[in-house]
Parts: sequence; C-alpha cells; structure tokens
Amino acid sequence: MDEKKIMLSGIKPSGDLTLGSYLGAIKHWKERADEFDCYYFMADLHAITVRQNPADLRRRTMEQLAQYIACGLDPEKNTLFIQSHVHQHAELGWVLNCYAMFGELSRMTQFKDKSAKNADNINGGLFTYPALMAADILLYQPDYVPVGEDQKQHVELTRDIATRFNHLYGDTFKIPEPYISKVGARIMSLADPTAKMSKSENDDPGRVTLMDDPAFILKQFKRAVTDCDACVRYDPENKKGISNLMTIYAATTGKSFAEIEREFDGQGYGTFKTAVGESVVELLRPIREEAGRLMKDKAYLESVCKQGAEKAGYVANKTLRKVYKRVGFVAK
Ligand code: TYM
Repeated sequence: MDEKKIMLSGIKPSGDLTLGSYLGAIKHWKERADEFDCYYFMADLHAITVRQNPADLRRRTMEQLAQYIACGLDPEKNTLFIQSHVHQHAELGWVLNCYAMFGELSRMTQFKDKSAKNADNINGGLFTYPALMAADILLYQPDYVPVGEDQKQHVELTRDIATRFNHLYGDTFKIPEPYISKVGARIMSLADPTAKMSKSENDDPGRVTLMDDPAFILKQFKRAVTDCDACVRYDPENKKGISNLMTIYAATTGKSFAEIEREFDGQGYGTFKTAVGESVVELLRPIREEAGRLMKDKAYLESVCKQGAEKAGYVANKTLRKVYKRVGFVAK
C-alpha cells in the first residue's frame, strides 16, 4: 500500500483564533485527516517575535489546542503539538538561517508590515522568522502546507531554501506545495475590508473570534463596513466589503457567488448582513461550546500535547540528524 501523503501547518497563539484563521486554514485541515498524515501545531516560538504577556501566551496556546480539537481535528488521527515542545524546530531553524539570504528575507511582505507596526521592536526574530517557518515545515517532509493567502510567500521561500540545500548536499528535503483554498483564503476585517482580519484586537476592531458569543457576532456583522450601492454583487475591486461578506457566506454555506446574488436580489444589505451573521453563529456555536468544555479538562489537553510532541519529535529528529550529517557536524 502507498504511504499516506503528509500535510502540516501551524498558527501563532499571538491572539484569539478568528473566523479568518478558521476559514483560511483550519477548515481545510480537518477535511483531510483521513487522506493525509497530518501535523498541526501551536507556533509559540513564532509568537514571541512580537511582545507577548507570558500568562496570556500560555493560556492562548492551550486554548488554541482545545479549539483545534473542537474544530474537528481528532488527536488520534492528527498529530497536534506545541512548537516549543519539539526542540528540533529551533535547531533546524538556526541551520536554515544560514541558507536564507538577507535579500530574500528583506523582501517578505509580513516582515515589512510587522516592522511598520512595531517600529520600537524590529528584532532579529521578526526578520529571520521565515527560516524558522521553513524548519517547521521541512522537518516533517510534507507534501502540502495548507495556509491562507498571506502565508504563501513564506511557503515559497521554504521551497527556495529547500531547493538550495538539496542542491548543495543532495536530496534532503521534500519540496512542499502551498495548499490554498479558492474561497476563504483571505478574509478581510469587517471594520476595514481593505485589511486582513487579524487575531489582535488592537489591530482589528472588525474581527470575529471562535469564542465570541452569538450576540456579539451578529452585532459585528450588522455594523460591517459596506458601500452605499445596496446591491449584493461580487466585485472585489469596487465592492470590497460586500465581496468579503459574500466570501464568508459562500464558505459557511457552500453556496456559489451566483446563488448568493440570486438569493439576495432586490433585498437590502440589512437582510444580507443578518443572514451572514447567523450563518457564522451557527458555524461557530458547536466549536465554542466544545472548546469551552475541553478547556476545563486540562489533564486531557496536556496528554494530547505530550503525545503529539513525542510523535512529532521522533519524525523531526530523523530529518535533523540527516541535516546535521549533511552539513558536516560530528555525530554525538
Ligand atoms: P498566522 O498565525 O498569522 O495565521 C494562521 C493561519 O491562518 C491563516 N489566516 C487567514 N486566512 C484567511 N483570512 C485571514 N484573515 C487569515 N488570517 C490568518 C494564515 O494564512 C495561516 O494559514 N507564520 C504562520 C504560522 C506558521 C506556519 C508554520 C504555517 C509558523 N510555522 C509552518 C504553516 C507552516 C502565521 O503567522 O500564521
């Protein structure tokens, strides 16, 4: 029998998971659990490139694990772990730093955005972040990396670093493909449809998180920024707000844009916004309830991440040993 293909992805516990994190990433992860051997982690090493309150970071990391499970990622079928529990990430990250070029890292859009937002803390980690992300990926030799549109550039850089390394030392890394969904790969803020929905509340008053209560979610959708043309039509150039709401509705209901346009033909934005809000409330309700329940079972969550780290560590170690040998480190 052919071996299963491998899928891997991660999310930074730098803020509460949003509808964007769900529709852009997690939704696609859970659909693939039977088909692929899957690794999903909480990217805490990445989170500290921006200052975090330690207690909040700890809480959010465990909450994120509970949310992964509540979203349908069965820990028996998927390897779920905390990045810092698998030390090989930091180790391969260092090695790959030496194969990532200054020019390449300087061109990363996320580095440019984040340094503009955190002008008083443009640290080395923020700059070399993509080399660590390349390590996260390449340790597991995945075939696909399911991410939202904003992470595509980092996955492409990972491919370049892996190709460079393979060229120098012979086949070491599998070259992974980014896996980006057609609908939902870029969910925009409800308050500013020109900006990505962000995990951080300070950055985005127009976000909806997986743990928000129904009344708040409906309010967020009712006050979503749109235009004054009163016609539900998909036009991402000229009608960014409405097109974003249509994307969310398409992702939550499975309807096409043409079907949505017909459904709301001649109706005002109020009816449409309420329908989108309600579809999101129903989508998130079971996730919020299950995550809330799991958060009370600390022992279970700890056992899941312990088991996940053991399994991930075993695979990661194999790749790291191979890399150390290839670059010329003396074996222990
Ligand atoms: P992060 O934590 O910013 O986002 C996690 C995932 O959610 C997607 N996403 C979105 N998709 C659609 N619309 C949005 N508004 C939206 N916001 C977030 C992101 O594209 C991403 O897939 N560097 C990564 C974390 C990471 C990683 C990895 C990912 C670290 N190592 C290895 C894959 C493989 C990040 O900051 O994602």
